[in-house]
Amino acid sequence: MKNTKGIILAGGAGTRMYPMTQLYSKQLISVYDKPMIYYPLSTLILSGIREVLIISNVETIPYYKKLFKDGSHLGMKIEYAVQDAPKGIAEAFIIGEEFIGDDQVCLILGDNIFYGYLDFLRYAIKENEGATVFGYYVKDPERYGVVEFDESGQAISIEEKPKIPKSKYAVPGIYIFDNTSSARSKKIAPSNRGEVEITDLIKTYLSEENLKVKKIGRGIAWLDSGTPESLLDASAFIAAIEQRQGLKVGCIEESAYQMKFIDKKGMDQIIEEMPNSYYRDYLKGL
Ligand code: DAU
Repeated sequence: MKNTKGIILAGGAGTRMYPMTQLYSKQLISVYDKPMIYYPLSTLILSGIREVLIISNVETIPYYKKLFKDGSHLGMKIEYAVQDAPKGIAEAFIIGEEFIGDDQVCLILGDNIFYGYLDFLRYAIKENEGATVFGYYVKDPERYGVVEFDESGQAISIEEKPKIPKSKYAVPGIYIFDNTSSARSKKIAPSNRGEVEITDLIKTYLSEENLKVKKIGRGIAWLDSGTPESLLDASAFIAAIEQRQGLKVGCIEESAYQMKFIDKKGMDQIIEEMPNSYYRDYLKGL
């Protein structure tokens, strides 16, 4: 099976979350009981990805390093890279070119939260040839990349934030690409808003008939937490589930244990080094 690496893009201009983002990028803000970036990292872990590159601005990288170190305590390898300015999502593949090497790559945006049975993702990673992206039915597709399907369910167009969306299917911020993504991204001209658009990268695969677009069913919750309103919604959603079940969502240590990245000894060591907290109590109780 192809090796798959993960990239979390966790920087950005921070305009929608100012004034918090004067200090660090928004993916450090907490969603209910843990930093936002725990959720996408946990999603990658639960997809079986052990090597992850975190990309952010120069101010925030030191905080991520403090949180995740080299990842070895989680049975992972975590690296870091700086994006000088938010010049577009697809720039992640240019910055991450060396990291990606000969492997395929799963990019997740640091403010995207997925909740539910992640088999759809594990399957897509296993089956990917060129690129695989997803379509998720939403009320307000104009806020997102929008994918249009023909009658046979084949994707026929994809547009970034269209004023008049051709469908209700938004493209969530999780993407799987083969290792041509870096070379392709370098050739993409910046858009009107000055960004190397992920949608333009996806289009290169679409035009070569090398793109799969898989619909994600409504049994999966996809939340983005990039605005004050959506952050509040995401926090309320996670709180409701965690309080009902007594189980955490996006708990990276639990995910690593579940995926057998670490054994009981590794988990015990994590717990030992963790200060007294509800979070530590939770891990102890597992
Ligand atoms: O959430 C899914 C949507 O994400 C997709 O449907 C769109 O096709 C895609 O363009 C993107 O749209 P957004 O408007 O949400 O992108 P935004 O500029 O907010 O960036 C998404 C995240 O990536 C955010 O957490 C900030 C981070 N980012 C973004 C850019 C452009 C970076 O770290 N660096 C960047 O250069």
